[in-house]
Amino acid sequence: MRTPFVVGNWKLHKNVAEAQALVTELKNQLGAIRDVAVGVAPPFTALWPVARRLEDSHLVLAAQDCFWEEKGAWTGEVAPTMLADVGCTWTLVGHSERRTHFGETDATVGKKVAAALKAGLGVIACVGETEAQRDANQTFAVVDAHLDGALAGGAPPLDRFVIAYEPVWAIGTGRTATPAQAQEVHAHIRGRLRERLGDAAAAAIRIQYGGSVKAANAETLMRQPDIDGALVGGASLDAAEFVAIVKAARPRPA
Ligand code: PGA
Repeated sequence: MRTPFVVGNWKLHKNVAEAQALVTELKNQLGAIRDVAVGVAPPFTALWPVARRLEDSHLVLAAQDCFWEEKGAWTGEVAPTMLADVGCTWTLVGHSERRTHFGETDATVGKKVAAALKAGLGVIACVGETEAQRDANQTFAVVDAHLDGALAGGAPPLDRFVIAYEPVWAIGTGRTATPAQAQEVHAHIRGRLRERLGDAAAAAIRIQYGGSVKAANAETLMRQPDIDGALVGGASLDAAEFVAIVKAARPRPA
């Protein structure tokens, strides 16, 4: 049984005061929910103050990216050990916005995943095709390449490795993949995990869906057998909306 995992990716939003206010609201509203793992990924500048607010909470703190070296002459970068030091227990790696705008490649994703796991962090490795790639029937090949990049450092610890399938054409566009479209790719990813890591790993590793997830569409997505939670961008900036998504991810009796 995989515990669903819902994470809010705040991207480039929220100063310290706004971040503290949002996370306080989430703590109050989500305190009683224990059957869904919940996390927030604020910008770097808000990590430490948000960590303080989360000290007595089961919500987990994630960074949106990390670097692969621990120290040195790397102006502007942040090491996974530094993220752990300020209270992060997770980090995103390989988000499509990092691939598109900041030159992230499968090779750099592999190095970041390995460094983050070595530092004791959990990793949410993002995979997903563009619209042109989907139209050219390359969806499975693209997610396979992204997944192989993320696994380049070897077999990960199963409780600290999560895949987020985020079709690029669905991110921030209001166009969600249909539950059937998402399930098809999630099932493919689980098959690929089975080939690469074996049955037990494929059964244990959680695969989140991301791309215009909202309260209104979360429940049908979360009911798909291979969707184990969500990576939520825009809708995670609003407490009521995010709380409703978390509730939609609660496991239901079959
Ligand atoms: P969105 O972003 O929910 O705003 O589409 C998802 C993501 O990029 O993680």
